[in-house]
Amino acid sequence: VLIAPHDSYVGSIDQGTTSTRFLIFNREGEPVASHQIEFKQYYPHPGWHEHDPLEIITSIEQCIEGAVKTFETQGHSARSIKGVGITNQRETTVVWDSQTGEPLYNAIVWTDTRHQNLVRKLKARLGADKLQDLCGLPLSTYPSVGKLLWMIENVPKVAEAYEQGRLAFGTVDAWVVYRLNGGAKANIFVTDPSNASRSMFMNIHTLKYDEQLLDFFRFDMDKLKLPKIVRSSDPKAYGTLTTGILKGVPIAGCLGDQSAALVGQKGFTPGRAKNTYGTGCFLLYHVGDKPVISTHGLLTTVAYDFDGKPQYALEGSIAVAGSSVKFLQNNFGFIGSSSEISVLAETVEDNGGVTFVTAFSGLFAPYWYDDARGTIFGITAYTQKGHVARATLEATCFQTKAILDAMAKDSGRPLAELAVDGGMTNSDLCMQTQADLIGIPVERPRMLETTALGAAIAAGFAIGVWQSFDELKNVNTAGVKTFEPKINKEEREKRFGRWEKAVEMCRGWANE
Ligand code: G3P
Repeated sequence: VLIAPHDSYVGSIDQGTTSTRFLIFNREGEPVASHQIEFKQYYPHPGWHEHDPLEIITSIEQCIEGAVKTFETQGHSARSIKGVGITNQRETTVVWDSQTGEPLYNAIVWTDTRHQNLVRKLKARLGADKLQDLCGLPLSTYPSVGKLLWMIENVPKVAEAYEQGRLAFGTVDAWVVYRLNGGAKANIFVTDPSNASRSMFMNIHTLKYDEQLLDFFRFDMDKLKLPKIVRSSDPKAYGTLTTGILKGVPIAGCLGDQSAALVGQKGFTPGRAKNTYGTGCFLLYHVGDKPVISTHGLLTTVAYDFDGKPQYALEGSIAVAGSSVKFLQNNFGFIGSSSEISVLAETVEDNGGVTFVTAFSGLFAPYWYDDARGTIFGITAYTQKGHVARATLEATCFQTKAILDAMAKDSGRPLAELAVDGGMTNSDLCMQTQADLIGIPVERPRMLETTALGAAIAAGFAIGVWQSFDELKNVNTAGVKTFEPKINKEEREKRFGRWEKAVEMCRGWANE
């Protein structure tokens, strides 16, 4: 058993959809230094969303430098950072040339819907109804597979690399680990099960790539290179940082960001759940060491695999949450920064009859309507910006309610309270609305960087900074704020009924 020295720290790379961060945690699980960079979002056509894979790497390197410099000015030594964990936006698909290590196309982001028609054809293929039992995910534009197929069909450079057997596919974790290890030369080409479970290539029961799945998608496995699936916490499998201020430090943990948030919220036992309001919003409910396949529109995902005994979660995924607030800022100019949304929403008493179905990427769980598009209902001459702001916040809260209802049906156990984190939870108004709409208390910890903390925990276990879950029991427990529901069941159901009506009415636009 590894035991790290007492003054050990753990770094955490949090590579999200809109920004990259690096945080340094002490043994008490407190962040002591951090650096954040927002990077460029590419929307070349309606429904398309891309990132530059090289910019992702640069942003990570800059964040590490920035945070470590702050850490040093606090009097610490970079040498006390004993390991680094990685957490990342999931499903986003990166392809590169396995011989040169250079990307062959922009990364297609998880929100992208360009391959909607391709997915429709896949849904009609014989055997499509068996996929979810094998991999835990229903066919939709969301997992990586459709994005990869689209690239092979539409990008000549990608098709050529595939034909010549040098097409490497990875989710962002695999790409980042590969490049931070120096790329093609070291060729550290790995992923963890929480990320691999988002591709549709991995069997959710065995945590291995599944021939049936790969055959269904008609991949030729002599032509496609997939990362090796290793444990989420491992002192060796992920290699080491090869450049920069932390050169030589091991990458010792890796988790998809939603799994990391569950770990950061210490969701280590079945029945624990968390809801993270980031770019999207994702509710994960720990179901234990056996996967539960949903029959109510949820996904089955790997929560984490620290020791060869994988833990599973049921997941409700909402495509648009914080991105709807950004939308009001960037596209409508309603606010100057995301944090102003609450102030704007509080300029009015209620939503004034406005409902905003923020279906920018169709609707994910539990609906899976790929033909839905963002629609604002109930506008009159009375409507003010504040009403739209309220309706925007409410959209995520309504979808969370729909997911909790589905989860109660799948698990047979309704949640007693909901642990939350992520940027949007800074809004007291949003959290009160959430408690009102789900009818159970909402609990917000003081330290909201639970995603980064989760990756630090995965790495910290591998290098002996922590040895047991028990050691983490006092982490982030002080200063939890609880929002109690303030409306009655009748009112709640009335509001939800209007939402459901709006959801049905926003369909059918995608193909017009
Ligand atoms: O599945 C997508 C998810 O991992 C993205 O998370 O935090 O960028 O909304 P976030």
